[in-house]
Amino acid sequence: MPMTQRTTLTQFLIEERRRFPDASGDFNGLILDVALACKAIARTVAFGELGGVLGNHAANAADSTNVQGEIQKKMDVISNDIFLRMNEWGGHLAGMASEEMEQPYQIPARFPRGKYLLVFDPLDGSSNIDVNVSVGSIFSVLRAPETTSEVAEFNFLAQGTRQVAAGYALYGPTTMFMLTVGNGVNGFTLDPNLSEFFLTHPNLEIPEDTQEFAINASNSRFWEAPVKRYVDECLAGKTGRRGKDFNMRWIASMVAEAHRILMRGGVFMYPCDTKEPARQGRLRLLYEANPIGFIIEQAGGRASTGRQPVLQVQPTSLHQRVGLVFGSKNEVERIERYHAEPLGLETGNPLFAERSLFRS
Ligand code: AHG
Ligand code: MN
Ligand code: MN
Repeated sequence: MPMTQRTTLTQFLIEERRRFPDASGDFNGLILDVALACKAIARTVAFGELGGVLGNHAANAADSTNVQGEIQKKMDVISNDIFLRMNEWGGHLAGMASEEMEQPYQIPARFPRGKYLLVFDPLDGSSNIDVNVSVGSIFSVLRAPETTSEVAEFNFLAQGTRQVAAGYALYGPTTMFMLTVGNGVNGFTLDPNLSEFFLTHPNLEIPEDTQEFAINASNSRFWEAPVKRYVDECLAGKTGRRGKDFNMRWIASMVAEAHRILMRGGVFMYPCDTKEPARQGRLRLLYEANPIGFIIEQAGGRASTGRQPVLQVQPTSLHQRVGLVFGSKNEVERIERYHAEPLGLETGNPLFAERSLFRS
């Protein structure tokens, strides 16, 4: 299709807004600022070693450790700064929260305060940055409280169902910007000549079935029984209970896995396990699981902790972690069923055998 016939992100947002005659344009301004931050990060990432942006933030590991207890890369810090600078001035936000900052960020007094909150993972998969594997930025938009006081942690603790919008940018062979405002999912591709996002993937839909799964199998000894059972059945392939072969992928960059699943289906799991009993899962609820969950569900997929829809989890802290399973609907529902079924089912107890009293 000739580029002149394609819709830009700006045009898309303006046309969407026309459906809400009372809308102020604040929301569109915010999304365009977020998109600009993503373009700036995309350019910075693209220069790699030439730009001096690879490697850890600080020379020794202790100084490089962030609030998550993880090594902070130079690009984590740069991307966080880009998000803050591009989004603090516009008058659309009352505050921000990020994976890289322990406390909520207050909008400086010199800028007007707005009606939204922005929550983000400035660079997801950043452990991959030095090896030139796809990374991305994930964001979630919430409504701000109607007070003029500073924002506090509790203002961000909204269930995922209350997100106004969510999206991510993927810095891969092409840079893409994926967005939901609760009305389906649309994907935009960056034209590097014009530095403009164009609508290339309208109304995405995730296939309900898949033969592809993604999990970090080095954690298998820590998995709970329902996860072990699911993965064992996938591995058993054609000759096993599922009667078909599966393929496995693990990029260690959730945003890239989510993108693959949006494009062709699949299931992603980073479940709760017993590796670090004090924490629930690996991924963070507010700026990883909720925005990705919102996108996946808006594309007809499903996102769950294994035990409940992830968007229904009531957050209790800003950096809370959560078990996460998302992707093709029928597979996620199967994993949820395995979590709900009584223990013993997966161990070959004859009472629960394929055609027994307790099976339908
Ligand atoms: P981040 O780079 O923002 O800290 O997130 C990394 C996350 C996620 O993207 C990925 O799926 C997961 O960590 C990888 O975990 P493992 O190192 O256990 O494979
Ligand atoms: Mn992340
Ligand atoms: Mn990150």
